[in-house]
Amino acid sequence: MLLAIETSCDETSVAVLDRDGSVRVNLIASQIERHQPFGGVVPEIASREHLQHLFPLITRALGDAKLGWSDVDRIAVTAGPGLIGALLVGVAGAQGLAYGLDLPLIPVNHLEGHIFSAYLQREGPSIPLPERFLSLVISGGHSSIYDVRDGVITMLNRTRDDAIGETFDKVAKFIGLPYPGGPQIEKYANAGHIDRKRFHFPMPQFNEKSADFSYSGIKAGAIRLAREHNISATGDPQLLADFCATFQEALIDQLFDRLDTIWSQLDAPKPAEVALAGGVAANGSVRQRIVDWGRQHDLIVRVPEKRYCTDNAAMIGFAAMQKREAVTDPRRVAARSRVQ
Ligand code: KG4
Ligand code: ZN
Repeated sequence: MLLAIETSCDETSVAVLDRDGSVRVNLIASQIERHQPFGGVVPEIASREHLQHLFPLITRALGDAKLGWSDVDRIAVTAGPGLIGALLVGVAGAQGLAYGLDLPLIPVNHLEGHIFSAYLQREGPSIPLPERFLSLVISGGHSSIYDVRDGVITMLNRTRDDAIGETFDKVAKFIGLPYPGGPQIEKYANAGHIDRKRFHFPMPQFNEKSADFSYSGIKAGAIRLAREHNISATGDPQLLADFCATFQEALIDQLFDRLDTIWSQLDAPKPAEVALAGGVAANGSVRQRIVDWGRQHDLIVRVPEKRYCTDNAAMIGFAAMQKREAVTDPRRVAARSRVQ
C-alpha cells in the first residue's frame, strides 16, 4: 500500500492506494473557510492549518482503510511547486514517517499529480496509461498543455501572465464573490437565460506563432466592464449572469484556440488521447467542450472525476507510481516552491 500526502496549497489531503491504482481512501481537509475572509489563500494560515490537520488525517485515512502501519510499504509526498511553508509541513511529516518506519519516500511534482489524475477511477483499478496523451492542466496556479510520451512530459505552452483559475478567482473577488471564484462564476453563468451579446472580450493573440496563454488582458477587460456596468454579487442578477457567462466563455475560448494551434503544429502521428486536469477541469462547460473537441478529432477523451480535479493526495500517490525509482533516503527529499 502506498500512503500519499498533499499539502502544497490550501487543502490537506491524505490518500491510500493499492498497487493497481485503486484509491482505498482519499481524505481532504479543505481550508477554504479559513481563507475566505481574506479573499484568497494566506500562506501563513495555510501552513498552520496543515500542521494541525495532517497527522489526524493520516490516522483517519489508515483507520478508514482498515490498515495498520505494517501494511504501508511506500510514502509519496508533494515536494513542489506550491507555497513553501505549506509544502514543508507535508515533506517534513513524510520524512519523519519514512525515516522512523524505514520506508521509501517518493517526492512528487504537484503538476505530475494533476497530469495523471484523469486515469484514476472512483472505484477499482486505474485506467491503463496510454503510450502517449495530450494533457491540459488548468488550475489556480498553472495553465499548460503537455505532450506525455512513455511517462516523459514535454511542456508545449504556458501562460505568460495569470493562470486560468487565478483569473476566475481575481475577477470573482473584484465583483464580491467568495473565494474560490471559479465555481461561483460557473454558478452564475448557468443562472437562467443569458444575453451573450451584452459583453465582449477580445481574444489575445501574439504576433509570432506562439500557442502561449495570456489571461491578464481578459482580467483587465473584465474588471473595466464590471466597474463601468456596476456589476456585483449583490447587484442586478441578469447583468451578473450575462457577465459571468461571457467572461467564462472567453477564458475557455482561449484554451481551445491554443489547443487548436498546438494540435495543428504537432507532427503525425499525433496522440490518440487527450486528458483534462486541475481545478478548472471541474467546470461543466470545459468538460463539455473537451468532449466535443475530442469527438471532432476522433480522440479518446479522459475527464477526471470531479474529486480528482482540485488538489488531492490520490493523484500524488498515483503519479508516484509512475516513477521508476523511489528515493530510499528520506533526508534527500527537499520541498521546493518552484520546480523547473
Ligand atoms: O488544482 P487546484 O485545486 O489548485 C491549484 O493547483 O491551483 O485549482 C484551484 C482552482 C481555483 O482557481 C478555482 O477557482 C478553480 O480551480 N476551480 C474552478 C472550478 N472549480 C475550481 N474554476 C472554474 N469552474 C469550476 N467549477
Ligand atoms: Zn493543484
